[in-house]
Amino acid sequence: MQSKQDIDIKEYPNQLFFRTELLNWYNSSHRPLPWKGKKNPYLVWLSEIILQQTRVEQGMPYYHRFVERFPDIKDLADAQEDEVMKLWEGLGYYSRARNLHATAKYIAYELGGRFPETYSGILNLKGVGPYTAAAISSFAFDLPHAVVDGNVFRVLSRFFGIDVPIDTSKGKKLFSALAQELLDKNEPARYNQAIMDFGATHCTPKNPKCNTCLLKANCQAFLSNQIGHFPKKSKKISRKTRYFHYLIFNYGEEIWIRKRTDRDIWKNLYEFPMLEGDGSIQPVTQLLESSEWKTLLLGSEYSIERVSKPYQHLLTHQKIIAIFIEIQLKKELVSDSSEIKKIERKNLSKFAFPKLIDCYLMDKSLYLNL
Ligand code: ADE
Ligand code: SF4
Repeated sequence: MQSKQDIDIKEYPNQLFFRTELLNWYNSSHRPLPWKGKKNPYLVWLSEIILQQTRVEQGMPYYHRFVERFPDIKDLADAQEDEVMKLWEGLGYYSRARNLHATAKYIAYELGGRFPETYSGILNLKGVGPYTAAAISSFAFDLPHAVVDGNVFRVLSRFFGIDVPIDTSKGKKLFSALAQELLDKNEPARYNQAIMDFGATHCTPKNPKCNTCLLKANCQAFLSNQIGHFPKKSKKISRKTRYFHYLIFNYGEEIWIRKRTDRDIWKNLYEFPMLEGDGSIQPVTQLLESSEWKTLLLGSEYSIERVSKPYQHLLTHQKIIAIFIEIQLKKELVSDSSEIKKIERKNLSKFAFPKLIDCYLMDKSLYLNL
């Protein structure tokens, strides 16, 4: 018996055309990428974790560095976490790096070094969702699981003219079922790579190449001149703004840093001691007056040397505005916090910082007058 959902999916016309022309496009236009055609599940997994939320051009150098430093999964499993974070520095979404490391240990030591070979086994790995599980299953093991990500939502919603919002459970079910139906079960790896590349390089979010598109004769969005309407979303994402004041305590060649260990953004990356403001960036003197640093600074001589311009960094659900306050200490401060690490300035580059801080460190010519 057919379920209602099967019937819905079958109602969309031109499915064979879609699959055929997509593969034709791939034959002539695919990008040579270092992980393509690889069957080694470790390399496939590594590349797919790097490419989650990251464009190919940005991820490529990271992939090469990881493969060179960690040729197999045991090398990665045995690394220090700080080294993994350092190699990941600048890629963002740092939970990916922590999960990557945890999963390498799990596979190397709990699974005896054998990468799981089934879809559900792969889906069970930390940091692997349905999209990545489908990618690894198909690329490494030729299993028939269709990938569904932002590219796929966009391509399918445009070609089939589907205006069901993609951020609803109805939309997710519909697009997953349609993607699975369209998948070429004989060549799942090639088909999945084709739709990813097509979405990333041809049917792009802005200015898709409709004029030279092999699919345009049956593309509903193109035919109705409504490309901008697809994919449809039910809600806009809202971002919370946070205000970070970084305190840069300089004493001779020494500087203080701390590791972020809370359940918050940038966990396990390093930063400078930081005071989070409530609703705005605050004036420096007022900030220090009301902070936990007051007593520590009270008996010591210091001067506020410079305050940076505000730096802004957008995350998916947060906007971070940060300023950097350079404080020169005339006497050594002693912190009783075990989180604080005192390092020499020249060793700053050995630690992994969020991109926002890297930008500041590279950009120190820009200061506001006090
Ligand atoms: N994005 C995620 N996985 C990818 C892949 N295998 N090739 C190109 N882009 C991707
Ligand atoms: Fe995408 Fe345009 Fe091709 Fe339609 S015609 S599939 S919108 S590139």
